[in-house]
Amino acid sequence: MPKNKNRFEVDLFKPKEVYDKKFTIVKKLDEGSYVQVYKALDSRTHKVVILKCEIDRKNNYSDLENRILEKLQSRNKGNFPKVISYKVCKPKKCSVIVMTYQGWTLKDSCKQAIDSNITVSCIRKIGIQLIKNIRALHKSGYLHGDLKPSNVCCEFDIESMKKSDSITEKPKFIRNSTVSIIDFGLCKKIKRKESQKPKEDDSYSGNLAYCSLNTCKGITKSRRDDIQSIVFIILWMCCKCNLPWNSAQYDAIGKRGQQTRKELYNSAYIVRKKILKDQIEHSKKSNKSSSRLPDFMIQLINEFCLKEVGFHDKPDYDKFLSILRQLKQKSTKKTTSSVSNTMNTNHKSKTSNKEESHQKKIKNQSKNQIKKELKKSETTNTNERHHKKKKH
Ligand SMILES: Nc1ncnc2c1ncn2[C@@H]1O[C@H](COP(=O)(O)OP(=O)(O)OP(=O)(O)O)[C@@H](O)[C@H]1O
Ligand SMILES: [Mg+2]
Repeated sequence: MPKNKNRFEVDLFKPKEVYDKKFTIVKKLDEGSYVQVYKALDSRTHKVVILKCEIDRKNNYSDLENRILEKLQSRNKGNFPKVISYKVCKPKKCSVIVMTYQGWTLKDSCKQAIDSNITVSCIRKIGIQLIKNIRALHKSGYLHGDLKPSNVCCEFDIESMKKSDSITEKPKFIRNSTVSIIDFGLCKKIKRKESQKPKEDDSYSGNLAYCSLNTCKGITKSRRDDIQSIVFIILWMCCKCNLPWNSAQYDAIGKRGQQTRKELYNSAYIVRKKILKDQIEHSKKSNKSSSRLPDFMIQLINEFCLKEVGFHDKPDYDKFLSILRQLKQKSTKKTTSSVSNTMNTNHKSKTSNKEESHQKKIKNQSKNQIKKELKKSETTNTNERHHKKKKH
């Protein structure tokens, strides 16, 4: 769903317009070519709600999303939006899910908190809730397939969220928020039978920056891939809302016109694996805490990104939780500024010259590798076209 190619052509709703006699539109939050998302006010409860509207067509994602949300609601485990109504809106030619508002996205709220530094204790709380939520989703039989900071929401001050005048309020720091997962449009049923084997070149759907190493290779997604995306979300928080492979990868994306989706994901795989391995190596060698990833991050990368996990294997949620819970015993006052020194290019690093040049070397190596990949890809056939969602 490319953001600037809006198949709706116009906004479905205008501010103050009333949908279904109950929901007063406040503003449009987001749009893709098939979806528009609105913030609205429920006149009966005076609570803020979300309207997710999708062009009414065969195989729409709303049916799936509604089904999953209702299932999660009936199980009552984990934090997810609750469906208030799901209908086809004939005059607007779309299907509309009205659901509870879950707060600001992690992407928006972390960006707001950037100057105040996200504390390790905050990352711990968010990480624990994310794992509990994904475990609940997996228990219901589905994997998410598109975990990223804009598909995670944080509630701040729950009481103020209920008031109508709080809609425009900026998010407060994320310390005491409830974390939930949203956007179930790319969910897939978990394949449990041994006879259901993963395919290669299966699907390159989902967000490129946060997808797992296996997804970069096009291998059919399973529960392990959701877990790896959560590691990357935590890494993103540790690095002041940056991923270590963003800049190198986006240089490559600039030339994407010449690349097939498969080639793009393949080069992402090479870069990502190398950066992760190099960072682990660097962390082992360097004793200076200001220039290395924190121990919990190294443990998470080792356990959930670099170790082999089988396609059918149930992820070790408890291990993930125990790595995060250990953080309680350690200093919770510590902020991520020290963490982000290692890889954040925008941040003034306190590392020694030697360490800085080591980091530069890693980045340059990655860039060169991507350039090589791009050159290779220019000479190969570029017939493959992806017909599904945008998701990168
Ligand atoms: N229940 C909710 N509570 C709060 N915000 C929401 C909710 N649902 C959606 N949003 C907002 O709308 C945005 C888009 O919604 P969603 O991710 O469900 O749609 P999408 O078109 O599939 O998104 P994308 O393809 O960009 O991931 C979210 O990133 C978030 O900002
Ligand atoms: Mg989304």
